[in-house]
Amino acid sequence: MALFSNRLTCCLHSRRLWKAVTVAACVRHHSSLIAELIENMDKKATWDRFYTENASATPAAFKNFEWFFGFDSVRSFILPALQSLQSQSTGTGTTSLLRVLDLGCGTSAVGPSIYRHSPVPVHVTCADISPVAVALMQQQQHAQQALEPQNPRSRLDFLELDCTELHGRFGPRSLDLIVDKGTVDSLLRSREGSGKAGHVLGQCLRALRSSGSLLQFSDEDPDARLPWLETEARGGQGEEEEGGLAATVTVHDVGELRGVCYYCYQVVPRPRGV
Ligand SMILES: C[S@@+](CC[C@H](N)C(=O)[O-])C[C@H]1O[C@@H](n2cnc3c(N)ncnc32)[C@H](O)[C@@H]1O
Repeated sequence: MALFSNRLTCCLHSRRLWKAVTVAACVRHHSSLIAELIENMDKKATWDRFYTENASATPAAFKNFEWFFGFDSVRSFILPALQSLQSQSTGTGTTSLLRVLDLGCGTSAVGPSIYRHSPVPVHVTCADISPVAVALMQQQQHAQQALEPQNPRSRLDFLELDCTELHGRFGPRSLDLIVDKGTVDSLLRSREGSGKAGHVLGQCLRALRSSGSLLQFSDEDPDARLPWLETEARGGQGEEEEGGLAATVTVHDVGELRGVCYYCYQVVPRPRGV
């Protein structure tokens, strides 16, 4: 396991300066899969293979796989954000569930943990391009049905979805919170994925309500990620798109793990001209 970890970290270092990916800590893989991950993390086939090879032989032995870190490292960003969103919606007299999307959920426990621990009522959708990951999550949820959410109104579902097609599933201003742990990172770091990453960001901004936020958890330094987010939120490098979106972007430290600094980028859609 350690061998895999060192090799993958090394390769990612040299190719794209992805300083360390915790992927290897609990996975045994062939070098061909390592090579596929380095180049093709924007491809469904890569992730189907990853989750298939990482799956336990028996459903009872299922273990969530966490990119970077798990829910405990992000809960202090997510739960207060939900509380604050709820107080804003209470102010407007709205009592519906807050809509939360875990973008590229993989088999992470983040989405199910939001559902389970949020004191405010939420409808969490965990979406991923890989049907293998989605099926594993559904099986796991089925096995844990007895675990009640903190708020009895909360809901949880799983969805196979290519997030470059977010608009086909989530209408404009329909989501309150989007959580992205490592998904846009993996698009940005793929040979053919950077265009998709910008596209996904634009779609997230369109799908968020004006009070909503996208929280991106990443190891990319702010001097690289902040200008990327600000440029892409305006519609890309070239001429600004007609009606292109702008956003306010802030960065918070998540902390250091195994010598790598992690950040939470909060992206809030901003009406044009503000
Ligand atoms: C680095 S993993 C992160 C998984 C999970 N968020 C976590 O924290 O463990 C990236 C995930 O993004 C998913 N993914 C890649 N491209 C996608 C796309 N276009 N739409 C939806 N999910 C995608 C992959 O299947 C994979 O599960």
